[in-house]
Amino acid sequence: MCGIIGIIGTSEAAPRLIESLKRLEYRGYDSSGIAVVTDTGTERRRAAGKIRNLEAVVDESPVSGTVGIGHTRWATHGAPTVANAHPHASGKVTLVHNGIIENFAELKAELIDAGHVFTSDTDTEVIAHLFDATLQTGLSAKEAFKVVLDRLHGAYALAIIVDGEAQTLFGARRGSPLVVGWGENEMFLGSDALAVGPFTNRVTYLEEGDWVILSHNSADIYDSKGFRVNRPVATVSASAALVEKGSFRHFMEKEVHEQPESCQRTFSAYLDPVAQSVKAEIKASVDFTQVTRIQIIACGTAYYAGCIAKYAFEKIAGLPVDVEVASEFRYRTPAMMAGTLAMAVSQSGETADTLAALRWCKAEGLQTAALVNVHTSTMAREADILWPTHAGPEIGVASTKAFTAQVSALLSLVVAAAAQRGRIDATEEARLVQVLLESPGLISQALTMDAEIFKMTFDLSRARDVIYLGRGAMYPLALEGALKLKEISYIHAEGYAAGELKHGPIALIDENTPVVVIAPDDELFEKTASNVQEVAARGGRVIMITDAPQKVPALSGDAAKTLKIVTGPSCDPFIAPLVYSVPIQLLAYHTAVHKGTDVDQPRNLAKSVTVE
Ligand code: AGP
Repeated sequence: MCGIIGIIGTSEAAPRLIESLKRLEYRGYDSSGIAVVTDTGTERRRAAGKIRNLEAVVDESPVSGTVGIGHTRWATHGAPTVANAHPHASGKVTLVHNGIIENFAELKAELIDAGHVFTSDTDTEVIAHLFDATLQTGLSAKEAFKVVLDRLHGAYALAIIVDGEAQTLFGARRGSPLVVGWGENEMFLGSDALAVGPFTNRVTYLEEGDWVILSHNSADIYDSKGFRVNRPVATVSASAALVEKGSFRHFMEKEVHEQPESCQRTFSAYLDPVAQSVKAEIKASVDFTQVTRIQIIACGTAYYAGCIAKYAFEKIAGLPVDVEVASEFRYRTPAMMAGTLAMAVSQSGETADTLAALRWCKAEGLQTAALVNVHTSTMAREADILWPTHAGPEIGVASTKAFTAQVSALLSLVVAAAAQRGRIDATEEARLVQVLLESPGLISQALTMDAEIFKMTFDLSRARDVIYLGRGAMYPLALEGALKLKEISYIHAEGYAAGELKHGPIALIDENTPVVVIAPDDELFEKTASNVQEVAARGGRVIMITDAPQKVPALSGDAAKTLKIVTGPSCDPFIAPLVYSVPIQLLAYHTAVHKGTDVDQPRNLAKSVTVE
């Protein structure tokens, strides 16, 4: 997902733009650039790779002015080169863009026929040429801007400089988020509150289709029909402090260690520790007695959180749950039953596939809910029900605290559903609530596995392939563990239901393929332990994560040398997915550190995929 910043300021724009872009690095990018309005016109500075490359370009060729725009680009159309880096320009127009213009080829052909010369392979450059061409017809900048927006198909968040429109920025959003920041005699545009966080904590979230003309002390906001609208100004908590690494080497490490607090914050929004029940306002947000089934739609790690919740919703609340990746769900014309609750699970609340699936469900007349970490996101604002997680800003591209916060919220909703549907009485509700409220303490205990886990990762970092096994709710956790390892260490890993091993994957087992087995002491433990035997008997190297080492059958001969056990805290099976997330995350983290990869911004990845 690209990052956008725009400033109409009272001091030099270049260093401020770069400072903001550094706060947007977490979104994932492969090139960056700025443009500043100088006394002699608008000048661009761009660079491929990391922002330090852009800083070097600006140091070598300074640019002075108080108005400017900046961008971190995650390449969609065109390689991550300087020529394709934003800002893009044509005539009087210089702009940055997040999203995809779906009719760019048609527009580009029309503009080339009209004599325009393109210098990049991007879809974005078309907008600059179209705006400049429209200005040349004699329309005012405001009129021309509206004409241009009406011709664009697809998703955009835009920040635009028009030469001659001094102390003015043009902004617009459709499908990609954009906020207005309110300063003291200064105004800002940003992809999110963190982008403008260094300058202000007062923001306006533009609505879908909104466009805006900023001056140094005003924001004229228009809706998609061109009518003036007023949008509220919010004071946000995303302070600069929340996005610092502190004593940790990476944001991901910090966020793994924040999980006792982030899960606790999330539980505090769902559970009443005094009444030992789910909070009344959560129970009031939905009537699970009227829900015939739940359709969870999500992507990536959020999808695995949904898969974990399925086991608990069905076992404890007796509620059928289907979980599907949004990119499949939205294109297959699913058959939806009346009474289905469609639940989007998303950290960012902006993931394009999940948002599109949510919109499809809403159009089908289903009740919709968004379980999101960004409470002002598009999903949060479009769903019928908002179920927030309180992980705080998650900067590492690999999701950790947001994942366990999602599981925390989902397990709380399981208790609410079971209570409303009469599947549990007040005593059992109190017990489950207590078990949930104790989980942050157990997560803290699981963090003490760090040193033991670290020892395992020397071996793991040299593997070509790794297999993760789990049963029950530990199966989706095995899938999540494999994803974590893949996305930050670039080692191929696959998660399997442990019972599936003998149906094929066991052919992969040899001394070169480590097998991570997630085995809490539950009713499936013995079966999982026998899978360990199957692997060890074939020379496979097993890393077994369990709280019942004493129950692991003794192995003989060489097999005994191949089994390594990492012991975690004993916990109720209901919260095992939360507690066992920690060693899984630490395993991936330390392995990636051994490999020397970019842990917080892994190659090719973006924090939120707002393009399809
Ligand atoms: C998680 O580690 C990944 N970075 C990715 O799979 C992510 O979970 C997925 O893109 C969904 O993002 P969302 O939660 O913001 O919708």
